Amino acid sequence: MDDGVLTSAAELDLSPAVEWSPESWRDKSGLQMPEYPDAGALADATTWISSMPPLVFAGEAMQLRARLAKVAAGEAFLLQGGDCAESFSEFSADNIRDTFRVLLQMAVVLTYGAKRPVVKVGRMAGQFAKPRSSSVEKVGEVELPSYRGDIVNGFDFTPEARIPDPDRMRAAYTQSAATLNLLRAFAQGGYADLHRVASWNLSFAANSAASEKYRGIAERVADALDFMEACGVTPRNTQAMRAVNFFTSHEALLLEYEQALTRTDSISGLPVAGSGHMIWIGDRTRQPDGAHVEFCRGVLNPIGLKCGPSLDPDELVRLIDLLNPENAPGRLTLIARFGAGKVEDHLPALLRAVQREGRSVVWCCDPMHGNTIKSNTGYKTRPFDSVLQEVLEFFRVCGSEGAYPGGVHFEMTGQDVTECLGGMGNVLPEDLSKRYHTACDPRLNATQALELAFLVAEELEKPAPKHRAALLES
Ligand code: PEP
Ligand code: CO
Repeated sequence: MDDGVLTSAAELDLSPAVEWSPESWRDKSGLQMPEYPDAGALADATTWISSMPPLVFAGEAMQLRARLAKVAAGEAFLLQGGDCAESFSEFSADNIRDTFRVLLQMAVVLTYGAKRPVVKVGRMAGQFAKPRSSSVEKVGEVELPSYRGDIVNGFDFTPEARIPDPDRMRAAYTQSAATLNLLRAFAQGGYADLHRVASWNLSFAANSAASEKYRGIAERVADALDFMEACGVTPRNTQAMRAVNFFTSHEALLLEYEQALTRTDSISGLPVAGSGHMIWIGDRTRQPDGAHVEFCRGVLNPIGLKCGPSLDPDELVRLIDLLNPENAPGRLTLIARFGAGKVEDHLPALLRAVQREGRSVVWCCDPMHGNTIKSNTGYKTRPFDSVLQEVLEFFRVCGSEGAYPGGVHFEMTGQDVTECLGGMGNVLPEDLSKRYHTACDPRLNATQALELAFLVAEELEKPAPKHRAALLES
């Protein structure tokens, strides 16, 4: 599973962003960020974080860029997933392991379907800050500032909990460091052995509720491994079969934190966000003249940009100009999130603008954020069928526009939560209250996430019209 892509910023000859500094975002308007009442405490926390080691090394961020460049070229596929919001209370080794495990299971299935390497990126080890649709939350007659993620304020509905507290940045940093440490150990230490992952998938597919299709794919993967073993390719002699490359990502929303973790790459001399391998800009904070775009344009990490229904094609091109002026493949991932039934209305114009301007991007589908509804039992939820439908629409539109559908982005967990409706476990509205643990948006549970991977893999196995033609020609 290791495709051995290695590179460095120096090798790529990247140039620094014009008139940028780690604090230049402060001259722009920054939406969705807290106002800290205690400036002294804020300065103490950011000074402390600035003195800490970065969580990631610039060379790793460049490796991810190189892998994403393969995705942009249609030679690899991106799987990005994890919590909507990591939380301090749900932090445990078991939770990290379980999410990592499901991501590995999904990646194997997708690798099989796509017949391409899958680039694995967690929404983990830093995904704490949340944009909110309203700055206040009302319960009965009581109105309080909204919860903005554990890195900012507390989830409890009390006035004290909702005051932004800069010390939470220290806790988020520490939790991210511990999470990343465990992820690195799992990725390289034997846990990710391909045979084990394939056997987990066989057990999943053997579940009586699983469809025949899943059994078919899981068995074909196991067969392929038996065949390779017979040929002498085993985890013992092949590093790629016993270890994986795994990267982290989060929304770069809390810029005080991001700035405090910005470092200079000692090899290229370029700035790098040390908070995670990939960072993205949310749909609510992607104003071309805003603080978040300003921060992200100056760091060498791969950048994601959420593209929702309000993004117009000209604005997208302007954002691409700002975020990837050198048109470097792998630098920019566009994450489409329109909602089931709306992809056809919005995506073609964006795809065409990118093609017309000759820009290299990764196109990825987030089928979560456009499909949030309120259930009749009062819970924020997402129907499994809408999530699947949006992915299928994304594939179809990319296919008919001659663009490569490069990846999927899920909010999911390895736990057996009841937050999204449907799937083979058939979560019903009345089940939502049973295990509704998310601090923010509803996540796919382990079964729903893996099931989606099987369904996407099936789709990936069908060559798109353009690709089919290319295969016949070659
Ligand atoms: C998210 O990914 O958690 C999120 C808030 O997404 P978006 O910016 O697309 O709404
Ligand atoms: Co979310």
